[in-house]
Amino acid sequence: MDVEHLMDEAALIVGRASNLVAFSGAGISEESGIPTFRDPGGLWDRFDPLELGGGDVFTSIFSGAGISQAAIGFVSEMLEVLQKARPNPGHFALGELESMGILRSVITQNIDNLHREGGNSRVIEVHGNIFRLVCMVCATKISLSREELFAMGAELVGLMQRGDLPGIIKLVSICPACGGPCRMDVVGFGEPVQDMALAMSEARSSDVLLILGTSGMVYPAAYIPEHAKKTGAKIVEINATGCCFQSLADVGIVGKTGDILPRIVERVKKLPA
Ligand code: APR
Repeated sequence: MDVEHLMDEAALIVGRASNLVAFSGAGISEESGIPTFRDPGGLWDRFDPLELGGGDVFTSIFSGAGISQAAIGFVSEMLEVLQKARPNPGHFALGELESMGILRSVITQNIDNLHREGGNSRVIEVHGNIFRLVCMVCATKISLSREELFAMGAELVGLMQRGDLPGIIKLVSICPACGGPCRMDVVGFGEPVQDMALAMSEARSSDVLLILGTSGMVYPAAYIPEHAKKTGAKIVEINATGCCFQSLADVGIVGKTGDILPRIVERVKKLPA
């Protein structure tokens, strides 16, 4: 079936949803200039996830991983792309579905905050958020403004380039509640994910799940589509290079979310009331 018909089908399913939930991965932010992880030229195609996938750069430096050129390259690139990144039409389409009263929540693996900037208020970030610190003693969370994150990031890269470990230690933020050291509130491989119970209950209560730009390679997040399907949800998947949940999807569309999602929303608006 051609993409036009698939979008018509997807719009019918989305338009009739009473509990629409979205589940997103790096693909939805690719058109905002943030590289994905596993595509050719993606982050894990160029950097070693075993060295740099550990979540918080401070912890990996202090755990003796030291300050490799790869670590400097990775941190610099992440800061550069995040600083330039803005929500794209895919993010805004989800924001619009929320304001139309159709979309209930977004479960995301992304740490880039773009769903919130795109207009979604109920965002479950199972891998954390880069614009947040967490105290390693009392778990207090501290939000960072864009200015604060990128100022700290620029200083960190300078210190890493000079190999100034004492300087990096001094840069670690101190918790305002208990005085403990803080780290970036992002989840690395082998670390516990966040709000998984809430994400699973959203999946269970959904009658339609939109899967957007994920390879479904990372667990436990990748259990979410199966969980939604088991409890009766219809599944619509959009992926630029080929759908990864074909066995579960009622409609699978090969295309970029920034192109396909807004066109589905336009179709939903035209559906008879
Ligand atoms: N629109 C739709 N899909 C896209 C687009 C796009 N513009 N660009 C790429 N894709 C697809 C890719 O083809 C791929 O299938 O999005 C998927 C991205 O997959 P990954 O790079 O594996 O990212 P993700 O699934 O989010 O990874 C999960 O792995 O490294 C960890 O913690 C990290 O949250 C991340 C997790």
